[in-house]
Amino acid sequence: MKIYRANILHTPTPDAFQVLERGYVIVSDEGRVERLCPTLPDDLRDVPVTDFGDRLLIPAMNDLHVHAPQYRNMSLAMDLELLPWLNTYTFPEERRFADITYAGHIYRRFVHELWMQGTMRSAVFATIHPEATLLLADLFTEAGLGAYVGLVGMDRNSPDYLSNTTEEVVEGTRRLVEHLRANPLVHPIITPRFVPSCSDTMLHRLGQLAEELQLPVQSHLSENMSEVEWVHSLCPDASSYGDAYYRHGLFGQTPTLMAHCCYTEGEELELMKRNGVYVVHCPMSNSNLSSGIAPVRTFMEQGMRVALGTDVSAGHNMSMLRVMQYAIQVSKLRYAESKGRCRFLSLSEVFYLATKGGGSFFGHVGSFEPGYDFDALVVDDSYLNFDNYTVEQRLERYIYLGDDRDIRVRFCAGRELPEPPLE
Ligand code: GUN
Ligand code: FE
Repeated sequence: MKIYRANILHTPTPDAFQVLERGYVIVSDEGRVERLCPTLPDDLRDVPVTDFGDRLLIPAMNDLHVHAPQYRNMSLAMDLELLPWLNTYTFPEERRFADITYAGHIYRRFVHELWMQGTMRSAVFATIHPEATLLLADLFTEAGLGAYVGLVGMDRNSPDYLSNTTEEVVEGTRRLVEHLRANPLVHPIITPRFVPSCSDTMLHRLGQLAEELQLPVQSHLSENMSEVEWVHSLCPDASSYGDAYYRHGLFGQTPTLMAHCCYTEGEELELMKRNGVYVVHCPMSNSNLSSGIAPVRTFMEQGMRVALGTDVSAGHNMSMLRVMQYAIQVSKLRYAESKGRCRFLSLSEVFYLATKGGGSFFGHVGSFEPGYDFDALVVDDSYLNFDNYTVEQRLERYIYLGDDRDIRVRFCAGRELPEPPLE
């Protein structure tokens, strides 16, 4: 058992922070929160306490949509909309992951940066290349970080140099599943790139594989207007973009993440609700590629599952602090554009999305309630705390003004993680 003391904040519900000033968190040998206590219980007087003093202790960040092979392009090439952006900048970069040496060079830095940013769990797209994808999974395992890692399937409207066949993605995913069997923190996920990149045959076989092996699914949905129109012409029989996944078993038949959903409404929205499909909101990406503003507050009001993602490299930064900030800011623009009809997001709501909302995809993750995995960050905001700010105000200022350099300690599933090697 371990006991930590600090200024503890978390969001068991989206509407408010729960704050425990100089409180204690009791963590079991299995790395789970046993309970939070305002004072040290008498029966635990003999257990040594790790006291983090006046620092903040918060649940770690969860990034539910990010492209590891786009790490080199981060903060570059954001002058096009989605479809030309993919063809011009993204596909040529992903092609390079056929080279395992290059893949190691980039993937090491990518995993290091997740650690640095305090993102203890992520849902990650790799590329079509099985060897590089296995390597990425190994780097997560070595770092002690939790992740869902997906080998990407794409067999139409894709350049020859970045296409695979249904057999290849199925075989490669089976290898990944075998490789990660019994891995407690790193798991495989079925990853069709998006409907325009995948033939009906590929979608169908991936849906069957998800069902056979009970694997979760991740993809993109209704990100950009040209993309949505393209899907309607590619799939005239589908009643919505979402239905084009659903009819192949890729839309909530197993746990499913759909990034973006800027234009999700009507039947597609109902299908997502009925099937418990997660919306992964990527406001930084949606700003950079001029995609749109997803109605996240409305999704939350309707009881949908919502998480946040950086979507690097359409998103230009790996920091979930920045994503939270963008989520609030774009929701305020939407509020203004809708003349006040769509309420904007509050700080506790976006913090909930970045912690417990996304964490729920991994099990009991993202909160300090009893039974939750102890995924946590110790934050030193002393340089920002020069007057009588409340603990909650300190967290607000950290989210807007702070960065990874303020994180002193990172825990994933109860384990303190050392810095992973860059070479
Ligand atoms: N849709 C299909 N592929 C991608 C991608 O790599 N990034 C984003 N933002 N959208 C996509
Ligand atoms: Fe994406």
